[in-house]
Amino acid sequence: MAFAKIEQEDAQAMDGATFNKLRSMIYDRCGITLRDTKRTMLSARIRKRLRSLQLDGFPRYLEYLVNEADEEEWVQLINVVSTNVTAFFREPHHFDELFKAVKQWASGGQRRMRFWSAASSSGQEPYTMSIVIRRALQAAGRQDTDAKILATDISTKMLSMCKAGQYPAEALKPIPNDERNRYFQLDRSTGNYQVSPTLRQMITFARLNLAEPPYIMKGPLDAVFCRNVMIYFDNHVRSNICDQVLRLLKPGGLFMIGHAESLQGPQLKEFVRIGASMYRKK
Ligand SMILES: C[S@@+](CC[C@H](N)C(=O)[O-])C[C@H]1O[C@@H](n2cnc3c(N)ncnc32)[C@H](O)[C@@H]1O
Repeated sequence: MAFAKIEQEDAQAMDGATFNKLRSMIYDRCGITLRDTKRTMLSARIRKRLRSLQLDGFPRYLEYLVNEADEEEWVQLINVVSTNVTAFFREPHHFDELFKAVKQWASGGQRRMRFWSAASSSGQEPYTMSIVIRRALQAAGRQDTDAKILATDISTKMLSMCKAGQYPAEALKPIPNDERNRYFQLDRSTGNYQVSPTLRQMITFARLNLAEPPYIMKGPLDAVFCRNVMIYFDNHVRSNICDQVLRLLKPGGLFMIGHAESLQGPQLKEFVRIGASMYRKK
C-alpha cells in the first residue's frame, strides 16, 4: 500500500482514547484482544456502522453503544471485528486424524458420537467434519452410528451462512471429486453449490460466545475443533476455553487447535500432544 494512502487512512482513524474504550468493551464482551495496530482496521469497519446508524463520529458511536444500543448492535459490532477466514479441509492433517479415530471408535462398537466445531465461521469446518465422519463410518461399515456435530460461533452473520450452506465453486476445490459430487449440488439461481441435506442433518448450529464459560453443553464429546480463534484471545480467555474443553471431552477425545495456536497452562498436563496442533485428552 502506498505511504500516502496509509497516511490518509490513519488520519481518518478514531482517536486513541475512543479506540481504547472501544477495545476494552469488545474484550469484556467477547474476549477478542485488539492490538494497537488494529486501530485503522477497526475505524474503517465501524465507519460503515456510523453510516448506517447515521451517527456523527466515533465518540458518538461509543456513546450510542454505552447508552442506547441493544444486543443487535453488539451482534453487528462483533460481526465487524471478527475475522472469518476459513476453508474446506483447512489443516488437512486434523481431518486425517479425525478419520482414523472415528473409524477406530466405530469399529470398536461405539454407536453414538458427538463432535463440536467451536468457531465454525461460514460452515466449511463443520461440513468438512461431517464429510470425514461419514467417510470413516463407511470405512468401518458402521453407517448406522448416531453421529452429530454441534457448530457454534459468536457471529450471527456467520451462523446464517453455515445454515444456508451455499458456496462458490472455487471454495469446493479442496473437496475430493467424488464427495463434491455426492454432497453438493449446483443451485442455478445463485450459481453457488448447495450442501446436501445428508450433511446438513448431522449438524446443529447455535450461537455461543467462547469468552463466556461455562458453556451450556454437558458432553461427553468425542472431538473438539477450536481452531484459529484462540489467537484473538489473551491467556485468561484461552485458559477458560481449555478448562471447558477438558470438562466436555471424553478420555481419549481429540482437541484440535489452529496451526498458530498452542495450549498453555495447567491444563496442558491433561492432554497428550499427538501431532502439530493436535491433542488427545488422557
Ligand atoms: C478465523 S475464523 C476460524 C474458522 C474455523 N474454525 C477455521 O479454523 O477455519 C474465527 C471465527 O471465530 C469466531 N469468533 C470470534 N470470537 C468468538 C467468540 N468469542 N466466541 C465464539 N466465536 C468467536 C468468529 O466469528 C469467526 O467466525
